[in-house]
Amino acid sequence: MTSKEIRSQFLNFFKEKGHKIVPSAPMVIKDDPTLMFTNAGMNQFKEFFLGNSVAKNPRAVDSQKCLRVSGKHNDLEEVGKDTYHHTMFEMLGNWSFGDYFKKEAIEWAWELLTEVLKIDKDCLYVSVFEGSKDADKLDLDTEAFDLWKAIVPEDRIILGNKKDNFWEMGDQGPCGPCSEIHVDIRSAEEKAKVPGASLVNADHPQVVEIWNLVFMQYNRKADGSLEPLPARHVDTGMGFERLCMVMQGVQSNYDTDVFKPIIREIETITHSKYGKDEEIDIAIRVIADHIRAVSFSIADGQLPSNTGAGYVIRRILRRAVRYGFTFLNTKEPFMYRLVNVLTEDMGEAFPELKEQRQLIENVIKEEEYSFLKTLEQGLVLLDQVILNVKGKEVDGRKAFELYDTYGFPIDLTALILSEKGLTLDEKGFELAMQEQKNRSKSASEISKDDWEVLSSDLEQEFVGYDMLETNVKLVKYRKVTSKKAGEQYQLVFNLTPFYPEGGGQVGDKGYLEMPNGDVVYILDTKKENNEIIHFTKNLPADLNGTFRAVVDKKQRERTQANHTATHLLHQALREVLGKHVEQKGSAVHSKYLRFDFSHFSKVTPEELREVENFVNARIAGQLPFEEQRNIPVEKALEEGAMALFGEKYGDTVRTVRFGRSIELCGGTHVKNTGDIWHFKIKSEGAVASGIRRIEAITSDAVKDFYAENDRVLLDIKGLLNNAQDPVKAVSTLQEENAKLKKEVEALLKDKAKNLKIELKNELQEVNGVQFLAKKIDLDAAGIKDLSFEMGQNQDNLFLLFATEQNGKALLSCYISKELVGAKDLNAGTIVRELGKFIQGGGGGQPFFATAGGKKPEGIDEALAKAKDYIK
Ligand code: ALA
Repeated sequence: MTSKEIRSQFLNFFKEKGHKIVPSAPMVIKDDPTLMFTNAGMNQFKEFFLGNSVAKNPRAVDSQKCLRVSGKHNDLEEVGKDTYHHTMFEMLGNWSFGDYFKKEAIEWAWELLTEVLKIDKDCLYVSVFEGSKDADKLDLDTEAFDLWKAIVPEDRIILGNKKDNFWEMGDQGPCGPCSEIHVDIRSAEEKAKVPGASLVNADHPQVVEIWNLVFMQYNRKADGSLEPLPARHVDTGMGFERLCMVMQGVQSNYDTDVFKPIIREIETITHSKYGKDEEIDIAIRVIADHIRAVSFSIADGQLPSNTGAGYVIRRILRRAVRYGFTFLNTKEPFMYRLVNVLTEDMGEAFPELKEQRQLIENVIKEEEYSFLKTLEQGLVLLDQVILNVKGKEVDGRKAFELYDTYGFPIDLTALILSEKGLTLDEKGFELAMQEQKNRSKSASEISKDDWEVLSSDLEQEFVGYDMLETNVKLVKYRKVTSKKAGEQYQLVFNLTPFYPEGGGQVGDKGYLEMPNGDVVYILDTKKENNEIIHFTKNLPADLNGTFRAVVDKKQRERTQANHTATHLLHQALREVLGKHVEQKGSAVHSKYLRFDFSHFSKVTPEELREVENFVNARIAGQLPFEEQRNIPVEKALEEGAMALFGEKYGDTVRTVRFGRSIELCGGTHVKNTGDIWHFKIKSEGAVASGIRRIEAITSDAVKDFYAENDRVLLDIKGLLNNAQDPVKAVSTLQEENAKLKKEVEALLKDKAKNLKIELKNELQEVNGVQFLAKKIDLDAAGIKDLSFEMGQNQDNLFLLFATEQNGKALLSCYISKELVGAKDLNAGTIVRELGKFIQGGGGGQPFFATAGGKKPEGIDEALAKAKDYIK
């Protein structure tokens, strides 16, 4: 069965059991401060488990793109070394939101595996949570045990500990016991030797977990205790690639049709062979895995960068490049050449790959180039470290510096050292690494108290599209503490006019006014698990009171002018540059807007002007704001709105239209484009290969910008004696300046010529040497030129020139080459010795050397001593 068939069999099986097939959420998460990447199928449903909202459909099924490379679930360092872990993988999942529970979850999983997919029952083992004696004091999950006992022989049910059989979303939040299904794909011979049950959860490559059925029934609180959830849910996750391995009768995920085409391409490009040498195999698996993770992330709009999610992607790509560099001898970019086959392989199920192939290739290629350069530099630096090493061991801190500052991989350092017969002080390296981790951890660590819930009415309404202030009541709050922000409170209201950060637009600020006139400032607003959270420094005195919630109007107005201008800019870029332009990122602040988009060359000044004019024409056109809330996403797309890759849209969406600009958008906007007043581009530049960035300003910021320009112009005019035409006046000045410069140069040349004649007449013959020691008024370069020119026309020359410039002294000694040999003279030694009279030092070559010093008063003495050298 092909992987495509397996995927659709899974989805259709649960569809027939009343589940709604939903699309995979983006792999890169943009609007959830608690998570960078989707690491489990359930992420997109968190709000239902937390009870913040109620699912429209209580049963769902999907295949979710997941990435496990950071935080609680991190498999990165394992990938490649074994045959069944991945950074990016597809998780097949079925969900019940307060609907069915253990019985159906278990029976359907078994039915699908054994009756539909026809996996041999004798290959399967299941595990059940054994309970725990620790603080949680949980009992054996007898409900699951009994359900399994009715299906499989008891010797195939394995009791598992908390690590394997109790699943938690994070340190806090919904959790519960789970039942895993494991498959044993060893040969009959091996099975006879060692029973499969003993290999479950023992990291055996042919006895692996394929499916995890989680029964969400508890909430983990901040103090570590568990409380039962109001409703019980099912969350399952099956490793798609592992299922394919079982169904296709192969021994490794990398031998399935999911990976085979990529591996074949790696073999061709790198002239290597998979399956012959373990080190090479690991490298090939790493590359085959990582190209997927990186390509899908870029398609989701996450470019490699120096911080956050972008940094994680950069590290994954670099890991693959260095495996290639070290084991497959790839010294040129090659990963980008795999994008084509990946697209052919997966482009049908994931069209974002097809649409963005060019961009993905460009970005990867450029990253590869720059990292290969880093590797080369690192090799040079490492050579220096090796040269200076005392003994046989290289300091771990030095290796850490190479790793941390230059991105030079530690395993490569260790490999090179061992090739040179040296060892690495691994403890020192680990220590330095740990110290750095602690530093960044304590800076980003946040501790959250449990929510104090004041009202059972948890449904919350956002009214900020229509009003900027309203009366609200507190529904729940909690204290959060972080090193960065100190102690803060997070407040959730029954309704709110405050816009939470999202879609690029910053969160609203403002205040809460109490009935007695006291105020509590709202410092920021964010969305988490579909709840709008307001950040404050203090709590209101009377938590149960009614407060007036007031949004900072000025900030909101400036921000929304920038948001509307962003839409017009997007439209303008597609009109002026072409339809290939796609939004790749946007930041809408009150003071400015930033817009990233795909385009393959620099935007010319003429094009920028055209874009500006296009936007300003629509501002002058006073286009009214037209909005549709809750329309089906298909209808919005039909009307011309563009869905962005990497964004998550519900069944219904909001569209925002100004004239012919129409976008899917949840942000806030001006009522009429006339409110933007004016649009001005401040800068245009590259963010990555094929991605450009424009920064621009509107409304008050443009007024300030022009006012500042005005002031500068007035100042300039003042300096130009109020010239009518300052541009002409400056250009006249420039012309005059150039003319004067030429004249000065000619004069200096004349002067030098005259000086040469003068000095020639002053030469004294001493012991067959043409000698002169003199203070002259030229700079260092002038003296050097003069000395060498005199040397060309005169043999046996000994010159010592001195000059005083800006309170400093300079000595310069020239000795004809024939004198250097015959009389054993050395200009370098001479200036060093004479340098002490001017409190300085210097050096150079035997025939020309200079010394600088800070005591010009010593010049005469130095000159007087010069003759001693030729006596
Ligand atoms: N959420 C469960 C997991 O990720 C299914 O394993």
